[in-house]
Amino acid sequence: MERDIPHQIVEDLERSSSLTSPRLDPARADFAQAVLAGFARKPRSLPCRFFYDARGSALFEEITQLEEYYPTRVETALLEAYGAEIAERMGDASVLVEFGSGSSRKTSLLLSALGRVTLYVPIDVAGESLAEAAEWLSERHTGLAIRPLIADFTKTRTLPVAARRPRKLGFFSGSTIGNLTQADARAFLANAARLLGRHAAFLVGVDLKKDPAILIPAYNDRRGVTAAFNLNLLERINRELDGDIDVAGFAHDAIYDEAQGRIEMHLVSLARQTVRVMGREFRFAKGERIHTENSHKYAIEEFQTLARSAGWTPVHAWTDPHRLFSLHLLGLA
Ligand SMILES: C[S@@+](CC[C@H](N)C(=O)[O-])C[C@H]1O[C@@H](n2cnc3c(N)ncnc32)[C@H](O)[C@@H]1O
Repeated sequence: MERDIPHQIVEDLERSSSLTSPRLDPARADFAQAVLAGFARKPRSLPCRFFYDARGSALFEEITQLEEYYPTRVETALLEAYGAEIAERMGDASVLVEFGSGSSRKTSLLLSALGRVTLYVPIDVAGESLAEAAEWLSERHTGLAIRPLIADFTKTRTLPVAARRPRKLGFFSGSTIGNLTQADARAFLANAARLLGRHAAFLVGVDLKKDPAILIPAYNDRRGVTAAFNLNLLERINRELDGDIDVAGFAHDAIYDEAQGRIEMHLVSLARQTVRVMGREFRFAKGERIHTENSHKYAIEEFQTLARSAGWTPVHAWTDPHRLFSLHLLGLA
């Protein structure tokens, strides 16, 4: 999305004194470009990877503990119940690469089941999460070397030299793949195939299509933690991009789009208002929305077809008795 930045915005970014002094680091420049472009387009939208600053990552961890948020609970239960079988089917390898690793709590279960991994490469945009997770994991898995990569997993083209070993395993949990459109998910899976290489095995957690009465509360909980997570994006804009957004002037909303098979999260302007970000003004009508996240849901076969179209061979899928969540094992010849 950020690639389509209008020329005027790029020029404004380069000219704006708040950007050149202090000089923008690349991560802040990436955020600035995404926000200015996302607020300039109609309908307005922001890429969901910017949820995960330190506060956003902490709020996500709180979400994973909520009664309504079944994905973490069920995926963890699947890893606990089928860990030995998953490890056997994944086969021997000494490197595990994880995409969007976050707190790496589920990874610990997988590492224990796999037994032989000596190098773990977690890839995440959230630097603070990576550092905390590396410390937490190294206390539990002695002898495990950890080489974190702070990077956008959709743009990662190379792995650390130490990971260039004959056979690699991959892990992509939390149904983070659902945040990508189907076209982007296919491109991600094809790139993961190139990164992991021949004979790789890839374990992917995928949330399943189900009754919206279960889905919607998972993204709109009673305690308002998901609302705080969504609204933190505006707070982050205020903190990092000289924003003056009245956060109380926006409300969290989560809807299920049946045709697209996805939950959408939005921030809705509660009044007509003008907000400023890095000296630029954006006018919002009452009721106008900022689309902040998609979470696509799949049927098992639908995901297997998508994986096949990206060059993977579906090997096995595990699911819970209520068919809430699935763990897919994909292989490469
Ligand atoms: C939904 S959380 C899942 C975290 C963890 N895998 C789990 O299952 O609990 C998504 C994670 O992916 C990271 N993330 C989101 N988009 C990313 C991107 N484009 N590149 C790298 N990391 C990303 C976030 O920082 C966050 O840690």
